[in-house]
Amino acid sequence: MSKGLFITFEGGEGAGKTTQIRAVTEWLNGKGVEVVPTREPGGTPEAEKLRDLLVRRDGGNWTAEAEVLLFFAARHMHITDVIKPALQEGKVVICDRFTDSTRAYQAYGHGQELEFINKVNDLVLQDFKPDITFILDLPAKDGLARSERRQSEIGSDDSDSEDRFEKLDVTFHEKLRQGFLEIARREPERCVIIDALQTPSSITKEIKVLIDKKMGGNNG
Ligand SMILES: Nc1ncnc2c1ncn2[C@@H]1O[C@H](COP(=O)(O)OP(=O)(O)OP(=O)(O)O)[C@@H](O)[C@H]1O
Ligand SMILES: [Mg+2]
Repeated sequence: MSKGLFITFEGGEGAGKTTQIRAVTEWLNGKGVEVVPTREPGGTPEAEKLRDLLVRRDGGNWTAEAEVLLFFAARHMHITDVIKPALQEGKVVICDRFTDSTRAYQAYGHGQELEFINKVNDLVLQDFKPDITFILDLPAKDGLARSERRQSEIGSDDSDSEDRFEKLDVTFHEKLRQGFLEIARREPERCVIIDALQTPSSITKEIKVLIDKKMGGNNG
């Protein structure tokens, strides 16, 4: 059976995930590769309903554990209904955030037990994980500045205007950043840290080389 490639993009707010996913999708489509761009939480109708609960301020007062379970309920639907079927058809799935964001925000950011998240992850995903994860790394203040600029560009009438986690707290975002770096240190064979202070096109160039290498490796 043909097997596609599962790519995830991670990093704090404003790191450039969405920008890079657009560029990489366009590049792959240009080469005739079928791409399924998607995002978390969300990616299926059911998971998008859970996204609404998770990202809006009036979504409910969940305990930390319940919140993690909601993320994984959404993730389970997403993997089952979208990600695995696409991979089985040999497509490239590119996901904007995945389990590493749950680890970074809930554990490194909010102090929820990392072990709890990892156990739930193992239970729900078993040995399923991204083939490659790009962690877009930049200082918290730079990411937040970009994020603010974008918010003012898009106005309030966009799905991106949903209430975000701790939008403006630099200390929190610095914890996230250290969390993502620690995650990369723990799984160096999966995670690549990208200097997100580079220009968008330099970043895309770096990512293309790594994807080409992965695809070559998978096909050969
Ligand atoms: N390498 C870059 N250099 C400078 N600005 C950038 C770069 N990449 C993206 N931007 C700009 O920064 C803003 C945020 O980018 P983008 O939406 O891609 O980030 P994101 O990681 O998806 O953020 P979020 O987590 O909030 O969805 C946008 O206005 C985008 O044009
Ligand atoms: Mg984005």
